[in-house]
Amino acid sequence: MKILVISSSPNKEGLTAACAAAAVAGLVQSGGVVEEVYLNNLKVGMCKACDNGWGTCQEEHECQELDDFQALHAQVRQADGLVLVTPVYWGEMSESAKAFTDRLRRCEATRDVGSALQGKPVLAVAAAGGSGGGMISCLGSMERWIQHMHARLFDLIPVNRWSREYKLETIRAAGKAMGEGRRE
Ligand SMILES: Cc1cc2nc3c(=O)[nH]c(=O)nc-3n(C[C@H](O)[C@H](O)[C@H](O)COP(=O)(O)O)c2cc1C
Repeated sequence: MKILVISSSPNKEGLTAACAAAAVAGLVQSGGVVEEVYLNNLKVGMCKACDNGWGTCQEEHECQELDDFQALHAQVRQADGLVLVTPVYWGEMSESAKAFTDRLRRCEATRDVGSALQGKPVLAVAAAGGSGGGMISCLGSMERWIQHMHARLFDLIPVNRWSREYKLETIRAAGKAMGEGRRE
């Protein structure tokens, strides 16, 4: 199994980074191959809603706005599963996660069959490092995204500062289970 772990915080040492590291540790334990991506290191701009609302994404399933998105899109296609880790901002995904997931959804949700994540497991983690609020609304939109991508929901894990210790262990265990390809 080759699993892509995408994290979307500018902070390399915070709760979000710790959650991504826990997922990576579990995946490595499973013997799988892990590719880590820090979205904030890339140039992935927001969707421009090209032309009258749809650009090449609707028919060609490619985004016409050229930046680092195209290479990441290819990485998603080649992966066997995805872990998406975001800090919770205002009860939602971070801006970098939203920009990436919006553009990928336009390209892939529009396929009748053969989405880049079709049937592949996706684990979503929402790290609410402030008040601890907004985890569920954030995961709600991540769950809808997973459905739109025709992916298989592996798990949704909310984490805040108080649950950090035991949730990091949960994320590690989830990564391990995912890497082992458990379907039950
Ligand atoms: C614009 C903004 C909005 C935030 N909104 C929330 C929130 O709704 N709930 C929460 O618990 N934390 C919130 N936070 C804190 C973040 O979830 C996060 O913990 C913090 O930015 C540190 O990032 P890190 O998790 O990468 O360490 C917010 C932070 C920012 C910058």
